[in-house]
Amino acid sequence: MPRSEKPRSIADLPGVSSSIANKLIEAGFPTIEAIAVSRPEEISQAAGIPLTTAQRIVKAAREALDIRFKTAKEVKMERLSIRKITTGSKNLDDLLGGGIETKTITEFFGEFGTGKTQLCHQLSVNVQLPLERGGLNGKAAYIDTEGTFRWERIEAMARALGLDPDEVMENILYQRVYNSDHQMAVVDELFVLVPKENIKLVVVDSVTGLFRAEYPGRENLAVRQQKLNRHLHQLVKLAEAYNVAVVVTNQVMARPDVFYGDPTQAVGGHILYHTPGVRIQLRKSKGNKRIARVVDAPHLPEGEAVFVITDEGIRDPEE
Ligand code: GTP
Ligand code: MG
Repeated sequence: MPRSEKPRSIADLPGVSSSIANKLIEAGFPTIEAIAVSRPEEISQAAGIPLTTAQRIVKAAREALDIRFKTAKEVKMERLSIRKITTGSKNLDDLLGGGIETKTITEFFGEFGTGKTQLCHQLSVNVQLPLERGGLNGKAAYIDTEGTFRWERIEAMARALGLDPDEVMENILYQRVYNSDHQMAVVDELFVLVPKENIKLVVVDSVTGLFRAEYPGRENLAVRQQKLNRHLHQLVKLAEAYNVAVVVTNQVMARPDVFYGDPTQAVGGHILYHTPGVRIQLRKSKGNKRIARVVDAPHLPEGEAVFVITDEGIRDPEE
């Protein structure tokens, strides 16, 4: 099929009537990309359409996007399409093999004040840098569940990099969300907004807060985790479908009564157990120093990185 005839929207897919298109959109599958990376069973159930129809649509979506068996060489070329965003700290970038990757979820987890939100701010600025400065020339979408986003910080970080602060602020699409359903609905919207607005980074700060508040305690643990998994799945799909970086934060309480091993792992730990992605644990050190450690990442070297939070943003400590 010539390129110009490729389906652009789900309504162009063979077998998708306008009523099916509406059902798909309402169920959170508004684009060809979203459908292509989903399982037919999942779509059939969520959209209330027959499984055979869902199978046909998924097949068409995958063909439209060229998703099929590939040679190792092709896989190599795809890996090369992964881009990285600098964190502002060379130490931290090195630990991550160059920076925060696109096509994946990166989770920052740690106690309060460890710099999770500051990193989200810094990355929202840095993603706008040109490639040669460690950016992706793109915009950021910032989902804030805690009301801790500060435009003043963005302004200061932009200025410190010699960027036009107003322009940088224009390129951060911000939304404050108030409950977990809203949080998930916003990600559905992003399937449309990300390609349209050239968004290259999606931030969810914090990804867990609202879920914890709405489903408190052990008795709700199963439902909470189930919903959270669905949300994380949405985010993984978004990252893969559009080659964007997704950064989420997760506050984890330290337990002083645990004397050995890793005290923050004891309560909560990281949330991406069953989700592909990179998990970074943050700890406080002296003054404005913070220590980052990558957990459960066989492809990254073991070790820690020290960075500092300064008025200019995330940087390496001065030796
Ligand atoms: P929770 O959301 O409470 O779990 O914490 P967090 O991990 O998101 O911490 P956050 O990123 O908010 O980090 C807070 C730290 O950043 C504080 O220790 C502040 O000292 C530092 N910080 C925040 N704003 C500034 C600033 O404008 N200048 C400087 N130098 N440091 C700042
Ligand atoms: Mg925070």
